[in-house]
Amino acid sequence: MKVLVTGATGFMGTGLCKTLGDQGYDITALGSRECDLTSEGSLSFLSATKFDQIFHLAAWTQAGDFCLHHPGEQWMINQNINTNVLCWWQKEQPQAKLIFMGTSCSYPTNLQLEETNYLDGIPTESLFTYAMTKRMLLVGAMALAKQYKMRYLCLVPSTLYGPGYHTDGRQMHFIFDLVRKILRAHLYGEEVVLWGDGYQTRELVYLDDFIKVMLLLNSKSENEIINIGAGREFTIRSFADIICDIVGFDSNKIRYDTDRYVGAKSKCLDIKKLKKIMPNLVYTDLKVGMEELIAWFIKSQAYGKKI
Ligand SMILES: NC(=O)c1ccc[n+]([C@@H]2O[C@H](COP(=O)([O-])OP(=O)(O)OC[C@H]3O[C@@H](n4cnc5c(N)ncnc54)[C@H](OP(=O)(O)O)[C@@H]3O)[C@@H](O)[C@H]2O)c1
Repeated sequence: MKVLVTGATGFMGTGLCKTLGDQGYDITALGSRECDLTSEGSLSFLSATKFDQIFHLAAWTQAGDFCLHHPGEQWMINQNINTNVLCWWQKEQPQAKLIFMGTSCSYPTNLQLEETNYLDGIPTESLFTYAMTKRMLLVGAMALAKQYKMRYLCLVPSTLYGPGYHTDGRQMHFIFDLVRKILRAHLYGEEVVLWGDGYQTRELVYLDDFIKVMLLLNSKSENEIINIGAGREFTIRSFADIICDIVGFDSNKIRYDTDRYVGAKSKCLDIKKLKKIMPNLVYTDLKVGMEELIAWFIKSQAYGKKI
């Protein structure tokens, strides 16, 4: 099986390539250094190879308030990446199935995060442009499937966590930021200040679980959009308590800053469709997953140096 992975150097891509490699797939792995997907024709050097599947994971974004401050760049970069990938897929790789990632941010703020609502209403203002580029990726794939009988699968992950995240100082997803701050407080005596009142709720899916579910869905579904979520969410305070418990830090020392940006009050994907396809879905226990994540943080010193 010949497989192309864009975004192969990212958090999800690194894990996916490892799993595909272990399963004997013939993988072509691309990061932005091998191939800048914003440039038209950047994939033409691969046109002679006929791929069975293309996992399109590449996207230009970061967590926190990054999207709020980079809407123009996000529109230009992500629209170009996705347009180039879709056009190349249609022209050069119509035999391949395209598996790509949506985002929970694309859902409108006033409706359930259920697949039938993905293209309805208005996404939250702070993530609007990023959300709309992801919607356009789905619209493009749907259009090509309709006109050219091509095959795709759009998966919408909730926030993923696990060992192997970025250590390059970028804005991290909330769970990595929580671990970083609590570890720094524990090791360096810094104060932990968390954004918001701590009662905003989030869900998490362990990266290895996500990859297993993604590959299973890929073997069963096509021309669909499917959420991959945990089905339940916890307050930021509960995540902080779990981390403090593992690290051995007093959670009463955490200060909550209600003036800072917190994003949505709650974010939990509807997983009825997923459960229908995989009724026996079981994820890694949150405490076990967090222990793995914290062990990786300590081993790779991802909490950073003392300032
Ligand atoms: N992680 C999550 O919790 C989550 C949740 C929902 C959706 N998603 C979606 O899942 C996908 C993977 O997420 P991730 O967390 O793995 O993202 P990531 O760690 O930020 O990785 C992004 C990848 O995209 C590549 N990329 C960026 N700009 C590029 C360009 N101009 N040309 C070619 N490649 C480029 C990066 O390459 P370099 O390393 O060379 O920069 C990297 O490999 C994304 O589409 C994201 O929107 C992720």
